[in-house]
Amino acid sequence: MSISVRDMTLDDIPAVASCQRAAFRHPFDQAVLTHEFLGCHRFNPDTLLVAVDENDAVVGTIWGAWNGRRAVISGLAVHPSYQGHGIARRLITTVEERFRAKGVTRLSLEITADNHRVIPLYENLGFRVKEGIMSMGKNLNAEDGTPLPQ
Ligand SMILES: CC(C)(COP(=O)(O)OP(=O)(O)OC[C@H]1O[C@@H](n2cnc3c(N)ncnc32)[C@H](O)[C@@H]1OP(=O)(O)O)[C@@H](O)C(=O)NCCC(=O)NCCS
Repeated sequence: MSISVRDMTLDDIPAVASCQRAAFRHPFDQAVLTHEFLGCHRFNPDTLLVAVDENDAVVGTIWGAWNGRRAVISGLAVHPSYQGHGIARRLITTVEERFRAKGVTRLSLEITADNHRVIPLYENLGFRVKEGIMSMGKNLNAEDGTPLPQ
């Protein structure tokens, strides 16, 4: 299996959405993904990455945003047919290298509470659960208690 990691481009959006649909039980729909992708790409064009096979088909995705010191990664997904070959590990370490080169020193991510299976992957790469931190969010489109969308 010959896999490489390269920058994501706008042309990759349908393939990225398709990879996310295959990997996640509750994926973003393509419109939401496109919105997030365009916003992230505008300010962080070199920290949105895809893993591709020998035919340049997208088999893995990750993207990250940073503010100078802190960065957040999201969208980590590997197509089920390609899981278990270290592709996620390569995507995470590559995005880490990109951030380190920019002077980013703090990297964070969110994990859905029932996704325990992914924790060893991150722990093996040096991530630790942040004790004493709660995650809060707000839907800026609906301040009336409407649940926060993904
Ligand atoms: C998590 C995921 C990206 C791992 O991709 P991968 O290329 O198989 O990962 P690697 O081969 O680099 O590392 C394997 C490790 O990933 C984790 N993993 C493997 N399959 C997984 C799955 N279906 N769900 C969650 N974690 C998984 C395990 O820790 C595994 O270690 P193990 O092989 O010792 O059990 C991939 O399984 C996936 O896309 N899962 C669904 C989406 C998801 O949960 N994304 C993370 C959001 S925080």
